Amino acid sequence: MNVEEILGLNTKSYLNGIVYVSETGFTKRYAKLLSRMIGIPAYTLKEAKASIKKGDSIIYMGWVSDNKVVGYKKAAKLYRVLAVCAVGMSSSSFDRTIEVRDKNGIEDSEVFWLQGGFDISKHSFFMRLFIKAFAPALVRELSKKAKEKGLAFDEEEALEIFEKGGDFVSRENLMPVIEWIKSNFKKN
Ligand SMILES: Cc1cc2nc3c(=O)[nH]c(=O)nc-3n(C[C@H](O)[C@H](O)[C@H](O)COP(=O)(O)O)c2cc1C
Repeated sequence: MNVEEILGLNTKSYLNGIVYVSETGFTKRYAKLLSRMIGIPAYTLKEAKASIKKGDSIIYMGWVSDNKVVGYKKAAKLYRVLAVCAVGMSSSSFDRTIEVRDKNGIEDSEVFWLQGGFDISKHSFFMRLFIKAFAPALVRELSKKAKEKGLAFDEEEALEIFEKGGDFVSRENLMPVIEWIKSNFKKN
């Protein structure tokens, strides 16, 4: 069932779409899931140009590369970004939303962190080469630190997901976004 029907939301009058950029599919799945839940179409940033007018209101979802929300700057030039969903492999925390806001120069939009996952096999050939070149040093460094003085939760989590991969996409993770929509887009 559609959450729009359950909650009686009137998102269509205020939100023109969900716009996303996804490299390996996790952000795409969140965008499609949210789209079904609130009854608003989801487009890639490329597709959006044909379907959403400049200046229209959107929720932007982008995968995180070194704390940067890929595609956000471009989306913010074209649209009124009401909320940004940053999709990374790490689990969600308040500090991460602060960091995303800082590193991406996000001022007025709401910011959410959604845990996506990590799947090296879905990256492009060149990204796989890049990851394979840098991963061993990172894994070595973290493993050494783990033996010597132990790892912080973040580092332990990153090491495990990096080594084994992971898929954390869920409806539950979208609930803070749904709550924000509920409180901002009331029924007329
Ligand atoms: C080069 C690179 C940098 C990354 N940087 C981060 C990061 O800073 N924080 C994080 O949580 N995940 C990071 N990740 C993991 C991705 O954000 C994660 O796999 C995300 O779910 C990918 O989404 P997508 O499937 O929509 O492309 C990085 C991945 C790559 C390949």
